[in-house]
Amino acid sequence: MNDAFKDGVLAGKTVFVAGGSSGINLGIAEHFARHGAKIGLISRSADKIEVAAAGIRAAGGTAMGIAADVRDYAAVEAALAATQAAYGDIDIVISGAAGNFVAPALGMSANGFKTVIDIDLIGTFNVLRACYAFLRRPGASLISITAGQAVNPTMMQSHVCAAKAGINMLTKCLAMEWGPEGVRVNAVTPGPIADTEGMRRLGSTPEIEKRIKASVPLRDYGTKRDIADVALFLCTDNAKYITGAIIDCDGGSGLGDSSARLG
Ligand code: NAP
Ligand code: COA
Repeated sequence: MNDAFKDGVLAGKTVFVAGGSSGINLGIAEHFARHGAKIGLISRSADKIEVAAAGIRAAGGTAMGIAADVRDYAAVEAALAATQAAYGDIDIVISGAAGNFVAPALGMSANGFKTVIDIDLIGTFNVLRACYAFLRRPGASLISITAGQAVNPTMMQSHVCAAKAGINMLTKCLAMEWGPEGVRVNAVTPGPIADTEGMRRLGSTPEIEKRIKASVPLRDYGTKRDIADVALFLCTDNAKYITGAIIDCDGGSGLGDSSARLG
């Protein structure tokens, strides 16, 4: 590990990131590695997850990539066990694996709807349920990456709305069940985040991008760093009395479309 990372606020901590090969979740992993954490990463693609882990190591951090699909409980459990064996009891879990495509309900098959429920909602249950045995208790901090669709009904997103709503409720139920053991369970709701697969799918043309930015109260996309900073806060003692919270980091977009000008 780079000497500069040893004094970081997460020095000595073990982190497990599900869906960590790209985008927001990899941004969190990279940020946490810079603060001294040792990171176990999973995603479906053996190639992509190894490139992600190698990137963290090349920057001076400590990371290992393991191919595991969050729909496969045994594979998730094995990856958690490997992370604990390599780096020690797990202090922090980020559950952010997700799939999305834009389609009306009548334009998706039962399997299309189920696929997103399986990755986002069942996958999050699998990660959180399986991680419990490997956690440092008391003290662990678990964070799911949800989305505004959880609370805002959105056309062409019935599958994601249903899955992410389930994640928000799972967050609150597990916070109640696991709080007495000193395990905090929270979620972060990113707004539209620049340079991500999610926004490539949802804001796919310059015209759509312009319209989305004009509708956000803070008038811009957020950055991966914005989400990583909120996740980092939730993993420190500064947030030691916060559990069951769904924290919006969305430029105000969850408040509604603010493109109408006053006066
Ligand atoms: P992304 O780069 O596509 O991230 C998704 C990650 O999940 C990838 O690492 C992908 O890697 C992994 N993954 C997908 N299916 C998986 C499975 N079955 N098992 C294990 N890993 C799987 O997209 P992103 O836009 O950064 O989104 C990250 C998270 O933020 C998601 O939870 C998303 O809903 C949420 N979010 C994003 C935005 C945004 O503006 N982008 C806004 C709100 C919420 P592999 O392909 O290698 O499996
Ligand atoms: N419109 C309608 N249905 C679609 C679709 C689309 N654009 N894309 C996929 N589907 C359907 C497929 O037709 C299939 O249903 P069927 O068997 O009845 O034909 C079902 O979804 C599963 O597709 P498949 O490609 O086998 O799933 P997968 O598990 O390989 O991939 C996805 C999952 C579909 C979510 C894929 O988009 C993915 O891997 N996404 C990960 C990256 C991502 O979405 N990032 C953004 C996160 S916010």
